[in-house]
Amino acid sequence: MSQENTRRKKGKMIVICSAKGGIGKTVLTANLSVALSKKKLKTIILDSCFQFGNIHLVMDLQPMFTIKDAAEQIEDLDENLLTSYLTHHESGVKVLPSPPSPEYADLITLDLLDKICTSLLNRCDYLLIDTTAGLPEQNLYFIEKADEIILMTDLEITSLKNAKSMLSILKALNLNQKVKVIVNRSTMKSLLKVKDVPKILEEEALLCIPNHFEMVSKSINIGIPFVMHYRRTKLSKAIFHIADLLSKDT
Ligand SMILES: Nc1ncnc2c1ncn2[C@@H]1O[C@H](COP(=O)(O)OP(=O)(O)OP(=O)(O)O)[C@@H](O)[C@H]1O
Ligand SMILES: [Mg+2]
Repeated sequence: MSQENTRRKKGKMIVICSAKGGIGKTVLTANLSVALSKKKLKTIILDSCFQFGNIHLVMDLQPMFTIKDAAEQIEDLDENLLTSYLTHHESGVKVLPSPPSPEYADLITLDLLDKICTSLLNRCDYLLIDTTAGLPEQNLYFIEKADEIILMTDLEITSLKNAKSMLSILKALNLNQKVKVIVNRSTMKSLLKVKDVPKILEEEALLCIPNHFEMVSKSINIGIPFVMHYRRTKLSKAIFHIADLLSKDT
C-alpha cells in the first residue's frame, strides 16, 4: 500500500443516474445521504445538475457558496478552500450545490470536476453525485470514476426502454459490474410490473423503492427528507436497506 493510501481513507463515489428525467434521482440522493449519515458515515453530495440543480431545495438549505465559486477559484482550489464552500445540513450531510443560475453551468469543466471529486473523496466516506438524466460528457466522467453506479428507472415503458439502452452502453464500457438497478415507484399502478423488469432489462438483481407520492411530494415541498422523521414507513425502510447494502463493507 502506498504512503498516500495509508495516510488517507478514500471515500466511495456513488453516482445516481437515470436515462430519463424525473425518475427520482434527487429524492433518492437526499434521503440516501441522510440514511448514510445516520450510520455515522461522512457523506457529501455533489449536485451535478449544473443548470437546474435543486438538491439544496429538497434539503431546505440556503447555500452561501456553490460550485460556481470553486470554478472561479480553480487555480487556488485546494481541499481546505473547497471544503469551505460546502453547505452543512442538520443531519451531518454536506452539499456542494449547483450554480445559482443556469448560465454558470458552462464554467464547469471536466478538469474542475476531477479536482473536486478527488478532493472531496479525501474528506468523506461517501460522495453521492446527483446527476442530470442521460449520458452527457460529465456523466460519463462520473460513471467511469464511480465505485458504484445506481441506475434508476420506474415502470413506464419509456423509462425501461431507455434504461435498457443505458445498461447496454454501461456493459459496452465494461462498467456493468458497478451497476445497481433501482426500480422507483415500484408499487405504482402500471401495466408493467416489477416481476417483468428482470426480463426486460436482462438484470436479475433489482432493488425497489415503493410508490408514495403524498409523502415524497410533501417532503420535497417542505425540504425535509422523509427518512428524517418517517423511519418506519416502507418508503424509508427501502432507503435504509439501500444504505445498508452500499455500506456493508465500510
Ligand atoms: N418513491 C416515490 N413515490 C412517489 N413519487 C415519487 C417517488 N420518488 C420520486 N417521486 C416523484 O417524482 C418526482 C421527480 O423526482 P426527482 O426530482 O427526484 O427526479 P429526478 O430524477 O431527480 O428528476 P430530474 O431528471 O429532473 O433531475 C418528484 O417530484 C416526486 O413527486
Ligand atoms: Mg434531479
